[in-house]
Amino acid sequence: MTARLIDGKAVAATLRAEVAAKVRAAGFTPGLAVILVGGDPASSVYVRTKDRAAREAGIEARTIRLPAETTQSDLLGIIQALNEDPAIDGILVQLPLPRGIDAQAVIEAIDPAKDVDGFHPVNVGHLASGRPTLVPCTPLGVMKLLRVMGIETSGARAVVLGRSAIVGRPMASLLLTADATVTIAHSRTRDLPAECRGADILVAAVGRPEMVRADWIKPGATVIDVGINRLPDGRLVGDVAFESCSAVAGAITPVPGGVGPMTVACLLENTLTAALRRR
Ligand code: GUN
Repeated sequence: MTARLIDGKAVAATLRAEVAAKVRAAGFTPGLAVILVGGDPASSVYVRTKDRAAREAGIEARTIRLPAETTQSDLLGIIQALNEDPAIDGILVQLPLPRGIDAQAVIEAIDPAKDVDGFHPVNVGHLASGRPTLVPCTPLGVMKLLRVMGIETSGARAVVLGRSAIVGRPMASLLLTADATVTIAHSRTRDLPAECRGADILVAAVGRPEMVRADWIKPGATVIDVGINRLPDGRLVGDVAFESCSAVAGAITPVPGGVGPMTVACLLENTLTAALRRR
């Protein structure tokens, strides 16, 4: 391995401690509501992690677990009540939602001022216009990792692999706002490896285990792996073939322990931001 390891776990621990200190100084308890519909095992783990992290930071977490049969209209009613609840500063509905519930309608029902995921069209619009307000947690966490590692974005060629609303698109907006020259590559892109080889900063967010190979990486490039994929043998791997790519990259995030912990830390930060703005 020649690449510097980007220790997201350590950076996230520092950020969480900073948020906890600011919460203590704020003189009130921010409230975060996390809604999980159905029993998807990965989502259940994520929600438990978010709940615990919020409590550790002094944020009052209210985790609402609903059965898979919950109707869209029931869910919209719960969100409306949380919108009106003065003790709640942040609302997060864990995705994906069960079939039969229109995720976009649910996202649009959340008060944009409480939208700590940054998925509401109002917040998406602010981000796209280069004036970020509440920003999606995973891409926000990636930007913080780049900053802490001293990786220059201004003038850098950045390639974002994946065009999801949760990661790829907001990631590209943030990199653009940070003066990178940004390409969004995806499943229909011609010659993906060649496109990726042009990147000084490569962000992989496609959900395909170890798709990015060493010969896709420009020597010395920064490689950020957003993927979390469970293999049939139980191993957890990213979208990047870590061993071989770390021999070529200049800096690389591991999976687990890279971007994942930053997502949770940024959720806490967004909750505090929303709380301070609202109160
Ligand atoms: N599912 C996977 N990532 C996320 C996220 O960042 N927020 C929500 N709400 N659901 C997710």
